[in-house]
Amino acid sequence: MTDQLAIQGVSRVFESPNGQRTQALQPIDFAVASNDFVTILGPSGCGKSTLLRIVAGLERPSTGQVLLDGTPVDGPGADRGMVFQSYTLFPWLTVAQNICFGLRERGLPE
Ligand SMILES: Nc1ncnc2c1ncn2[C@@H]1O[C@H](COP(=O)(O)OP(=O)(O)OP(=O)(O)O)[C@@H](O)[C@H]1O
Ligand SMILES: [Mg+2]
Repeated sequence: MTDQLAIQGVSRVFESPNGQRTQALQPIDFAVASNDFVTILGPSGCGKSTLLRIVAGLERPSTGQVLLDGTPVDGPGADRGMVFQSYTLFPWLTVAQNICFGLRERGLPE
C-alpha cells in the first residue's frame, strides 16, 4: 500500500540577510497512511509549524521532499488543509466550524 503522505529527509534552514543561519527543522522522515490521526509533539521552536507549513506547501524544505500519494508537493493545494495557530482563525466560530470553513466554501455537505 502506498502512503498517503510521505515526509522524506525534510529539513529547513532559514538564512537572515546578514547571513545568520537558523536550523528550524532537522531532517525528519515519517509517513501518514489514509485515516491515520497523527500528533506532532515537541518543545517550542523545535520546528512543528515549519514542518506543517512545508506539508501545506507554504514553505520550501532545504532538503528532502514531501509526497502526497506519490506526487511531490510543490505548493499549496486544495488537497491539503491547514488551520493556523492563531490570527487566521475566526474567533466567533468553534474549532469544528473553523476546520469546516474551507469545506463549506467548496459546497460540501455536513
Ligand atoms: N521565517 C523564519 N525565519 C527565521 N527563523 C524562523 C522562521 N520561522 C521559524 N523560525 C525559527 O525556526 C525555529 C522553529 O520554529 P517553529 O515556528 O517551526 O517552531 P514550533 O515548534 O512551531 O514552535 P511553537 O511550539 O512555539 O509553535 C524557531 O527557532 C523559529 O524562531
Ligand atoms: Mg508552532
